[in-house]
Amino acid sequence: MAESSHWLAGRVAVITGASRGIGAATAEAIAGAGAHAVLAARDGVTLDTVAGRIREATGEATAVPTDVSKIEDVEHLFAVAEETGPVCALVCAAGVLTPAPFAETTPEVWERTLAVNLTGSFLCCRAAFGAMRRAGEGRIVNIASLSGVYATEKFPGLAAYNVSKYGVIGLTEAIATEGKELGITAICISPGAVDTSMLRRANPELRPGLTPFEVAELILALLDSPLTAASGANIPLFSNA
Ligand SMILES: NC(=O)c1ccc[n+]([C@@H]2O[C@H](COP(=O)([O-])OP(=O)(O)OC[C@H]3O[C@@H](n4cnc5c(N)ncnc54)[C@H](OP(=O)(O)O)[C@@H]3O)[C@@H](O)[C@H]2O)c1
Repeated sequence: MAESSHWLAGRVAVITGASRGIGAATAEAIAGAGAHAVLAARDGVTLDTVAGRIREATGEATAVPTDVSKIEDVEHLFAVAEETGPVCALVCAAGVLTPAPFAETTPEVWERTLAVNLTGSFLCCRAAFGAMRRAGEGRIVNIASLSGVYATEKFPGLAAYNVSKYGVIGLTEAIATEGKELGITAICISPGAVDTSMLRRANPELRPGLTPFEVAELILALLDSPLTAASGANIPLFSNA
């Protein structure tokens, strides 16, 4: 068999939010490129379904039910991943969106949104950073949103979500700064409307401009490139749909 041209081939990659939507499509693309995909999300049943699909396509996958907002779950996720081999890639796709007008945004909605979208990304990136430092290499892709990009149109009811995504963009820059000397890069992507259950819940009227598979293809291309000079960048994904 011809040797794979993918950097990912033979490496271990952790993908959060891998039970559906962008995360599931990304996990399948990464496994298709020859990596062992370690899948994380809370719902173990749907996670197992995605892992099963990957194995049916002769890929390698391990499902680890995980709540990314819980440090003990994240530590367990990376401990399982490292049993498979050095963790060299991470995609943080886990996210929640609970629409609420600003004046009715409860502290619970605010805290939960930040806990999953921002603290969850921090906990996973921090665990991955340690593993990547040990491995001597690593590539991280975080998923923010156009909602977290300065001077782009904002939709009402998304204050907590928007702020969490601004944070993810900042987190990615910070990781890039400290990863530079260690061979660790971090890139953020900020999609517009992608055709997933999150979008349908958030705004059923909004026409999606991207499919999860298109976003997954981009993430795969990013992970397959060193991108050293671009580390820390955020890539907004506008679409014309
Ligand atoms: N769809 C869009 O238009 C769009 C646009 C810009 C950015 N994004 C971002 O892209 C990412 C993926 O979104 P999506 O559209 O694919 O959403 P989705 O279909 O709702 O999928 C969200 C994923 O996150 C997981 N998740 C939620 N809470 C979690 C937690 N506490 N711990 C671990 N996993 C958790 C879900 O699984 P469980 O429920 O089983 O945990 C699911 O796998 C999110 O960060 C989202 O903000 C989406």
